[in-house]
Amino acid sequence: MSYSIAIDGPAGAGKSTIAKLIAKKKGYIYVDTGAMYRAMALYFIEQGISASAQGKISAAAAEVEVTITYENNEQIVWLNGRNVNGLIRTEEVGKMASASSGNKEVRKKLVELQQALAKKENVVMDGRDIGTCVLPDANVKVYLTADSRVRAVRRYEELKAKGQECDLDVIEKDIIDRDYQDMHRELSPLKQAEDAVLVDSSKLTIEQVADAIIDLCDKGAE
Ligand code: DC
Repeated sequence: MSYSIAIDGPAGAGKSTIAKLIAKKKGYIYVDTGAMYRAMALYFIEQGISASAQGKISAAAAEVEVTITYENNEQIVWLNGRNVNGLIRTEEVGKMASASSGNKEVRKKLVELQQALAKKENVVMDGRDIGTCVLPDANVKVYLTADSRVRAVRRYEELKAKGQECDLDVIEKDIIDRDYQDMHRELSPLKQAEDAVLVDSSKLTIEQVADAIIDLCDKGAE
């Protein structure tokens, strides 16, 4: 039986950084499910489909193939055979991913891919519905959150380090809007699974959060 750690939570809580670190420490595979939703979203944007055109999104989802591979421990997302890692980290793609991830066809396709991966490998998987829907039997489930201002400041620092112009209040508003959309959609909304451990990373370092989660694994039945 493969071992799985599910980490869910809102945008900017540090899920991917922490999940990557845990995966490295444990020798597991890190599965970034948000990147899969982003790849699909990129396709919809490239097809000129608007976020509200659910019928077109459903039809397009049927013709899109998202796969993932690993190179030097890094997840590569392929969209119809094209490596799109360099194209999916924009605000535009993030917003479209949030809007289109409420679509049934999109979710069905990606959840199947995620479950197949977790079946054959030990994984640390992060997203919004991993503990609630994708891996309801995960060995360890964490709901990782942080204050919206703290998350906005982290994002602001990241963008500034890349030399991008940005406004802290606008970033915080976008984060709050995205949380609302992810938490209030009909299908698999973002919420803490009943058996997930709540971790607030607002005042913790990355190492502290990763160690706390590894402790949870050590305490459980590995
Ligand atoms: O984690 P992220 O910002 O890369 O995710 C982008 C969007 O994808 C997020 O706003 C909601 C959606 N998503 C989802 O619905 N389910 C997941 N398991 C992961 C992401």
